[in-house]
Amino acid sequence: MTPILNSQLRHSPVKLYDFHPPIEDFKTSILAGLQQPQKAISPQFLYDKRGSELFDAICTLPEYYLTRTEVQLLQDHANEIATYLGNGALVEFGSGSSQKVRILLGAAPQVQTYVGLDISRQHLYEACTALAQDYPGLEAIALCTDYTQPLPIAQIPELQNRHTIGFFPGSSIGNLEPLEAVAFLQNAAVLGDLIIGVDLKKSAAILEPAYDDAQGISAAFALNLLTRINRELGANFDLSQFAYRAHYNAIAGRIEMEIVSLAEQKVSIGDVEICFDSGETLRTEYSYKYTPDEFQMLAMAAGFQPVQVWIDAQQLFSIHYLKRL
Ligand SMILES: C[S@@+](CC[C@H](N)C(=O)[O-])C[C@H]1O[C@@H](n2cnc3c(N)ncnc32)[C@H](O)[C@@H]1O
Repeated sequence: MTPILNSQLRHSPVKLYDFHPPIEDFKTSILAGLQQPQKAISPQFLYDKRGSELFDAICTLPEYYLTRTEVQLLQDHANEIATYLGNGALVEFGSGSSQKVRILLGAAPQVQTYVGLDISRQHLYEACTALAQDYPGLEAIALCTDYTQPLPIAQIPELQNRHTIGFFPGSSIGNLEPLEAVAFLQNAAVLGDLIIGVDLKKSAAILEPAYDDAQGISAAFALNLLTRINRELGANFDLSQFAYRAHYNAIAGRIEMEIVSLAEQKVSIGDVEICFDSGETLRTEYSYKYTPDEFQMLAMAAGFQPVQVWIDAQQLFSIHYLKRL
């Protein structure tokens, strides 16, 4: 695929490499997911512009301990982490609003190039633009692509013959099934070493409210998927007929997030009809939780050597530094 550059924004401080999949891929994936016995979609589709905004709102919720714990860990260990960064390029996977990386950039002014990589194109571009404005000496690049696919590194001249390190905060690795997580890590290892945030196993009493908050922002985030399908694929989901829930499956070690049909109903997506039983679920996301040892086993299976792990005093969250073998 040939990337589209942001030629319309000639004076932009950010170069955009756009490998966003076409709308046909979205339609094919959604229809395939809704026609399985257990209806499911890939979590990447939760992130249109509105989805990214709602996720940013989730990060500020009192129940969502992940963001504030990871931010505190990054602040507490920024100087040590900075020693691993080198002076080349820093590539952030699933960069979202590019907030956490600011802590690293503050501690490592030698980093020359920042590449924000995300599927949510508009949000990515705005976040990278804000970053470029706040760090004038930094070369900022927005790379819109799906990180579960082979990375288009050969098409990014700024990543050729450079020392490059990956940064993958937010415990987004937990959205992937363990085998998919190994495949992602193998893909990421092509770039170089990796700094990665991983949520730890803990009680359902802490986990479930984090993914189903009292204000209903997590529910709005999940149900926004149906709004997106209505808008982009000409569907007729009636949102009042669906609810959201999150459950911790302690045996599998994962939060299971799903949309529940409140009635027996039929939904049209273009000319395709999808039937829902009352109580039937559409899985929107998993969020796997790992002990430090479990995660390091995954990393080693993908060709990384675990070098360092930072954990907060309450043992809520971990950040690993992995060296590519
Ligand atoms: C859980 S949020 C984390 C955002 C931010 N890194 C943080 O730590 O707060 C996941 C981010 O990854 C992006 N994302 C999800 N699936 C993706 C995929 N398959 N490829 C690229 N980006 C993806 C989303 O758009 C979103 O910005």
